[in-house]
Amino acid sequence: MKIALVTGAYKGLGKEICLQLAEEGYTVILTARSMEKAEAAAEVLRQDHGHVLARTLDVSNEQEIQQLAEWVEAEFGHLDLLVNNAGINSKDNPDKEVFMKNFRLDMLDAEQVLEHIRINSIAPILMVKHFRQLLRRSSRPVVVSIGSWLGSVSVKNSGGHYSYATSKSALNMMNKAMALELKEEGIIAVVVNPGWVQTDMGGSKAPLTPEESVNGIVNNVIKRVKIADTGKFLQWDGTEHPW
Ligand SMILES: NC(=O)c1ccc[n+]([C@@H]2O[C@H](COP(=O)([O-])OP(=O)(O)OC[C@H]3O[C@@H](n4cnc5c(N)ncnc54)[C@H](OP(=O)(O)O)[C@@H]3O)[C@@H](O)[C@H]2O)c1
Repeated sequence: MKIALVTGAYKGLGKEICLQLAEEGYTVILTARSMEKAEAAAEVLRQDHGHVLARTLDVSNEQEIQQLAEWVEAEFGHLDLLVNNAGINSKDNPDKEVFMKNFRLDMLDAEQVLEHIRINSIAPILMVKHFRQLLRRSSRPVVVSIGSWLGSVSVKNSGGHYSYATSKSALNMMNKAMALELKEEGIIAVVVNPGWVQTDMGGSKAPLTPEESVNGIVNNVIKRVKIADTGKFLQWDGTEHPW
């Protein structure tokens, strides 16, 4: 049985990733901070798409990560695919002051920046810390962390937006450091830019639907990556993204 776990997955890209993985035959563990929301999303996906289980997970809580790994160990004994999808972006915050604390130098707030780094950069690596032994038991263990073109130092061409851009940049380095450390264990770990996608975070003007983006991630990345790719920063179409 192929087992996949997706974080932040009751809506947006995460939910679509669960849907397409279930259609590919994975048993999918759909996680979200709210058990109610996770269960509601899993229930919808179960009806038409396959085997989807719901669990609670706040990725900023390492104890919850550890407890979830213990549950997966007891239920399945291994993990084939981990998708670190959960993420925050201060631009979504309806409070203009909070937004400015992340976007503009004269209002920059260290705690806001650190919160983005905790969730967007460190949590994906803590997930691997706790799921490492379960991943090692897979014949082809894959970790996909959802990054962003906004985390590319070479692509950035406008000022401000400190917290999110910095956290996604840091994710690239955290992933590379972890991927190279675990390479000999056969764990393939990549960061993927999903493109600009129509979700609550991406907004309605985005050119890509979640279905299109995730179709690319599943078919061009999840199915194709090899150990030689570990540590890479990829596009949703499978090509390499500039750092
Ligand atoms: N949409 C785009 O254009 C785009 C572009 C580049 C990268 N991305 C990345 O794609 C990923 C998915 O974003 P999306 O576009 O699908 O946006 P979204 O619909 O806003 O989804 C973000 C998800 O992350 C969850 N989350 C936030 N903090 C969490 C935490 N501490 N623990 C667990 N879950 C948490 C949210 O749950 P709550 O509702 O509970 O907060 C939500 O389910 C993110 O990593 C994002 O940075 C998106």
